[in-house]
Amino acid sequence: MTKSRSPIRSNVGLKAVMAVTGILLMLFLIAHMLGNLKIFTGETAFDHYGHWLRDVGTPLLPSTWFLWIQRIALLVAVLGHIAAATVLALRARAARPVRYAHRKPVRGSYAARTMRWGGVIILLFVIYHILDLTTGHLNPQGDSSNPYGNVVADFAPERWYVTLFYTLAIVALGFHLRHGAFSAFRSLGQQTPRGERRARAAALVFAVALCAGYLAVPFAVLTGLVA
Ligand code: HEM
Repeated sequence: MTKSRSPIRSNVGLKAVMAVTGILLMLFLIAHMLGNLKIFTGETAFDHYGHWLRDVGTPLLPSTWFLWIQRIALLVAVLGHIAAATVLALRARAARPVRYAHRKPVRGSYAARTMRWGGVIILLFVIYHILDLTTGHLNPQGDSSNPYGNVVADFAPERWYVTLFYTLAIVALGFHLRHGAFSAFRSLGQQTPRGERRARAAALVFAVALCAGYLAVPFAVLTGLVA
């Protein structure tokens, strides 16, 4: 059999797919977190922002086109990220046909060891979240013209379990991002122990800042700061 030169046949190619799709998803996460924080500027401003999201790109593009392009790009990125991760994991397993009799705990950070389950939790969360705050099916208000009201109804104190679920998912996202950002910063920075320490610290700051930004919204509603 002749060797294929397709980049996705090689692990390096697949890791590049992980990196490019991961960076795209991170950019979305930063933009979405900043957008969510607009809730602190009041109901009118937040609802205006929600409507503006549908008109991004106009008049160059018809209304909602950019939104749909973004949705398709995100979906392709998520599917590519999962597919590349799955193939890499299967190859790693195939490279060691006989499992270790005494499987020693694998060293590495907690984040590195939980990437797979963290990813599954995040995926389930995103499906729930879209049915909750985008389509409104699982939201107590579910009024697409009033995203502020949907968020306030969602995280009302009596629905504390929704805030708990969001918190768990966002913490899982934080661990996942810490590892992803560390890999990216390490590749971009100096390949020395010092460079690695810096990359680790920068990834931690990034993940904590993102988690805090996301968690600020449900906790502001839970505590009555946003009502
Ligand atoms: C507590 C934190 C969060 C809040 C308050 C929040 C809020 C919202 C709201 C209000 C919308 C609907 C926007 C609209 O249609 O007007 C939305 C959509 C969305 N959110 Fe979040 N979000 C949070 C966390 C997250 C996280 C952690 C992720 C990803 C892991 C995420 C991914 C999405 C996606 C993919 C959409 C659909 C965007 C679209 O319509 O194409 N969100 N979010």
